[in-house]
Amino acid sequence: MQNSSRFFVYLFSVSFFFNYLTITVTAKPSSINDIMLNCGSSGISTDPDGREWTGDVGIHSKFVSLEQSNNTFILFNPHGSSIDHDPYKTARIFHSQFTYTIRVSPGQKFIRLYFNPSTYHDNFDMSKAFFTVTTGPFTLLSNFSIGSKSLVKEFCVNVLQNQTLNITFTPSTNTSYAFINGIEIVSMPTSLYYSQFGDKGARLVGHNSQFHIQNNSALEMIYRLNVGGHSISPINDSGNLFRKWLNHTNFFLASNVNSISNGAIQINSTSIPPYTAPKEVYQTARTTRTSEDNKRYNLTWRLPVDSGFKYLVRLHFCKIQPEVK
Ligand SMILES: *[C@@H]1O[C@H](CO)[C@@H](O)[C@H](O)[C@H]1NC(C)=O
Ligand SMILES: *[C@@H]1O[C@H](CO)[C@@H](O)[C@H](O)[C@H]1NC(C)=O
Ligand SMILES: *[C@@H]1O[C@H](CO)[C@@H](O)[C@H](O)[C@H]1NC(C)=O
Ligand SMILES: *[C@@H]1O[C@H](CO)[C@@H](O)[C@H](O)[C@H]1NC(C)=O
Ligand SMILES: *[C@@H]1O[C@H](CO)[C@@H](O)[C@H](O)[C@H]1NC(C)=O
Ligand SMILES: *[C@@H]1O[C@H](CO)[C@@H](O)[C@H](O)[C@H]1NC(C)=O
Ligand SMILES: *[C@@H]1O[C@H](CO)[C@@H](O)[C@H](O)[C@H]1NC(C)=O
Ligand SMILES: *[C@@H]1O[C@H](CO)[C@@H](O)[C@H](O)[C@H]1NC(C)=O
Ligand SMILES: *[C@@H]1O[C@H](CO)[C@@H](O)[C@H](O)[C@H]1NC(C)=O
Ligand SMILES: *[C@@H]1O[C@H](CO)[C@@H](O)[C@H](O)[C@H]1NC(C)=O
Repeated sequence: MQNSSRFFVYLFSVSFFFNYLTITVTAKPSSINDIMLNCGSSGISTDPDGREWTGDVGIHSKFVSLEQSNNTFILFNPHGSSIDHDPYKTARIFHSQFTYTIRVSPGQKFIRLYFNPSTYHDNFDMSKAFFTVTTGPFTLLSNFSIGSKSLVKEFCVNVLQNQTLNITFTPSTNTSYAFINGIEIVSMPTSLYYSQFGDKGARLVGHNSQFHIQNNSALEMIYRLNVGGHSISPINDSGNLFRKWLNHTNFFLASNVNSISNGAIQINSTSIPPYTAPKEVYQTARTTRTSEDNKRYNLTWRLPVDSGFKYLVRLHFCKIQPEVK
């Protein structure tokens, strides 16, 4: 299990301006087979974005099965944390290993795990939540502890034909426990991050070689930034992929640079399919210089990462003319 983490390629996506981009993305999204599980809840509920979540308590679905176990229990968040909507309101807690078995169509999938570290109960000490999450041969999270903020962890894996997606939670020790608030599975276009037959792959930085991201690797999303623009919420993402794009400000190391935007820009959906990124990502940019300014600035982002992994950096470029005022 330890070794499997070497297959990880961490992923972050920065989009910024100043060049022409040719992206070789051709495939269409595979058939929608999305799953949204509201852990520790029953019935159907709707989040503020209007997306429907299905409770995992007493779930009768041919797509999802839970292990029978008396070592799991359900907690409702009584104190109303900063996020008090589904799927954050309830959690499923595990004192021993527990597996969700999810039947999805074959293909590459986003897996999003939602965690809300709230004080669910007086007997429930968040500082004892240390756990590992695996799917197939991949260790998605290892001896993970959450800290104080709710968060969503996003991964990509490829599911083979006739294979189920098993998501297993294992507490790190017999005195710690695992928990989860929500599980979202979204099908992704095959060529979005993984390499396709015949494509050149990603260039290995500092080398003259290409790196292919194969179906037998798992990816974790680390940063996805909209340069120069506002955050884009999952509901406003393109291609029904429900990705979240953050405002880049907190990672950008410069104050005195040129900023350009053009809200009228339209993206040619033949050369850049809509699922690549929402058009808002292409409508704002930072540039090292503009025609009326002869100073050159560098553009630097600081993005802390863990060592020991390979990172895929995707940069989105688009030639834009600033809006005529
Ligand atoms: C569930 O409880 C029974 C009896 O109370 C016990 O024998 C069994 O080992 C428990 N199962 C798990 C998975 O803990
Ligand atoms: C990877 O898997 C996808 C679907 O799961 C498939 O369409 C694609 O051809 C595979 N790619 C390679 C290089 O095998
Ligand atoms: C997932 O779990 C099912 C049922 O326990 C098992 O038959 C299957 O082999 C598992 N799949 C993977 C990819 O581990
Ligand atoms: C898990 O992390 C905690 C805190 O960082 C550490 O004390 C503990 O030894 C780790 N456990 C394992 C199994 O690595
Ligand atoms: C998947 O299952 C079907 C029906 O059981 C079988 O015909 C097919 O060969 C299997 N595909 C693979 C790739 O194992
Ligand atoms: C927990 O694990 C420790 C060491 O592995 C063992 O000594 C102890 O009896 C275990 N406690 C329980 C409640 O299983
Ligand atoms: C990005 O975030 C910063 C700081 O949080 C804020 O000042 C700025 O207005 C935001 N930019 C946009 C376009 O929303
Ligand atoms: C989505 O975009 C629309 C139009 O820009 C905006 O009014 C709305 O607030 C956005 N929704 C969220 C949840 O950010
Ligand atoms: C680029 O700008 C940043 C922030 O102003 C600065 O910290 C960095 O040293 C500069 N890098 C180069 C190569 O000039
Ligand atoms: C969009 O891109 C395609 C392929 O590159 C090209 O044939 C087409 O003319 C472009 N359409 C527009 C409106 O620029």
